[in-house]
Amino acid sequence: MAVVTGGASGIGRALCLAFAREGMRVVIADLDGPGMAETAAQAGAAGARALAVPTDVSRLAEVQALADRAWRDFGAVHVLCNNAGVGVSGGLEAATHRDWEWVVGVNLWGVIHGLEAFVPRMIAQQQGGHIVNTASMAGLIASQGLGVYNTTKYAVVGLSETLSKDLRPYGIGVSVLCPMGVTTRIRQSARNRPAHLQNPTGPPGSAVELIGRYLTPEHVAERVLRAVRDNRLYVITHEEGLEPLRRRFERLARGIEESR
Ligand SMILES: NC(=O)c1ccc[n+]([C@@H]2O[C@H](COP(=O)([O-])OP(=O)(O)OC[C@H]3O[C@@H](n4cnc5c(N)ncnc54)[C@H](O)[C@@H]3O)[C@@H](O)[C@H]2O)c1
Repeated sequence: MAVVTGGASGIGRALCLAFAREGMRVVIADLDGPGMAETAAQAGAAGARALAVPTDVSRLAEVQALADRAWRDFGAVHVLCNNAGVGVSGGLEAATHRDWEWVVGVNLWGVIHGLEAFVPRMIAQQQGGHIVNTASMAGLIASQGLGVYNTTKYAVVGLSETLSKDLRPYGIGVSVLCPMGVTTRIRQSARNRPAHLQNPTGPPGSAVELIGRYLTPEHVAERVLRAVRDNRLYVITHEEGLEPLRRRFERLARGIEESR
């Protein structure tokens, strides 16, 4: 049984459908009711039982209610995908407190809430399992104009790297998904921005153009499925990331040299 946050669209929907095709039951958690209904219908057509649970991942009580519902209806949770996320662009010097609250609330607190609500029960059920946290290449390379988003995704990478060590004794694997461009609705993230966190001055800077190819969510979900099966930590879907990663590592190595 798999639980997927952000399952109403994009990568989350593709993950739900990939699990459904594997014969798993899925719980879809999202803010977007019609989007969840569409994912559930497609999972049903693939022969899987699917349950949609309206959830705002930035609120701990809602994620705890999601976990209650998952265990009540399905009896066990084997895979948890903390995938819901939003993006905002613009220089850090211009980021508003509301930008921080919104993006950190969904992208980082959302993942933390997933851990708080699910990990103790996954350990207690003694059946192993797997947790997939969706970060981004923005969690490994800090592109200009994406500072708020980068901050949350670096944190999700660090959290996941540590979690994989912490949960190894319990037979619970961890993967962190770090894609570059994927053809989803992430660039229309503002559709999910709550009224109390809107900027009074309107939306910030224009969208940042990413380098590299845009992959489909289905391609990305297939790579995640393989990583879960093989119990691999890093799911880095774009080889275009290799050179910028090398350059970052070289800068870090130079930092050590210059700090001797
Ligand atoms: N698309 C890309 O290029 C790309 C690249 C790297 C990482 N990512 C990450 O992939 C993940 C999925 O995004 P996507 O690209 O599929 O975008 P998407 O906008 O298509 O899907 C995101 C989903 O998250 C949901 N969501 C937003 N706020 C929520 C909240 N508070 N509670 C519950 N659900 C919420 C949305 O309703 C939507 O269904 C995100 O974490 C994103 O940061 C995307």
